[in-house]
Amino acid sequence: MPNDTYIINAKNITKYFGSVVALDSVDFELEDGEILGLVGDNGAGKSTLIKILSGAQLPNEGSIEVFGQPANIKNPRDAFELGIETIYQDLALFDNLNFTENIFAGREFSRRGVGRIFGFIDGKRMQKDASNRIKNISINLPLLTQKVKQLSGGQRQAISIIRALFWGQKIIIMDEPTAALGVREAAKVLELIDETRKHVNGIIVITHNIEHIIKIADRVFVLRNGKRVGDITFKDYGNGLDDLHNDIVKLITGAEMIDYKA
Ligand SMILES: Nc1ncnc2c1ncn2[C@@H]1O[C@H](COP(=O)(O)OP(=O)(O)O)[C@@H](O)[C@H]1O
Ligand SMILES: [Mg+2]
Repeated sequence: MPNDTYIINAKNITKYFGSVVALDSVDFELEDGEILGLVGDNGAGKSTLIKILSGAQLPNEGSIEVFGQPANIKNPRDAFELGIETIYQDLALFDNLNFTENIFAGREFSRRGVGRIFGFIDGKRMQKDASNRIKNISINLPLLTQKVKQLSGGQRQAISIIRALFWGQKIIIMDEPTAALGVREAAKVLELIDETRKHVNGIIVITHNIEHIIKIADRVFVLRNGKRVGDITFKDYGNGLDDLHNDIVKLITGAEMIDYKA
């Protein structure tokens, strides 16, 4: 696979916490247009990896290219400016604000001042723009003026995604987007993620739910004890879905290394 298809190309990422090696020389790539499932057992290093890509933590070693350019991601603002948006399950929204307010909240650091001014002087237009954006989204959103704490988990995910799109973000990272949801709502969020694919360059989804990964992703990337232990591109995988599921479980829990990346 030529490197120019990578929108994130991270090499040799290593992160220590004291004597704990959270990430051990991990190479990580995200390809243009793909949804990537990032999986691994508790403590495998998933959150640390996405925190490094989001500027919430610095690696001890390693280099990152984003859209083919060397990227020095020192803080969340740097990640934002590179077009990387991370949606953390619980921290994504401000509960006491409504949909429209949430689009702008926490974006004070943005250099994209146009949006900021727009927010202060033209709330109506913003609201209209926001409601146009959500028309095509399959989750039923309530009144835009309702405080988000009254919304369901799926609606909150939808708002987080819309906010990322509103700001023109190109790479969306979602940490356990379906974990807290019931079956029906989880299915809707998966649909929403699939729709989002059309509007961004790439999506990374962390999840413990292997069915969800197989359903939605193009590829799965597996960490175990801070190491990259597997990378399966589904279209290159020769066997059936049951085998795929089993192979992913094997990679997560141990035993063997599998590489089906073309
Ligand atoms: N802030 C921290 N301080 C100390 N150890 C940490 C910190 N964050 C993560 N770790 C350790 O790093 C390893 C990887 O953790 P994490 O990236 O959260 O894994 P995952 O998200 O896959 O469950 C674990 O051993 C965890 O205890
Ligand atoms: Mg984690």
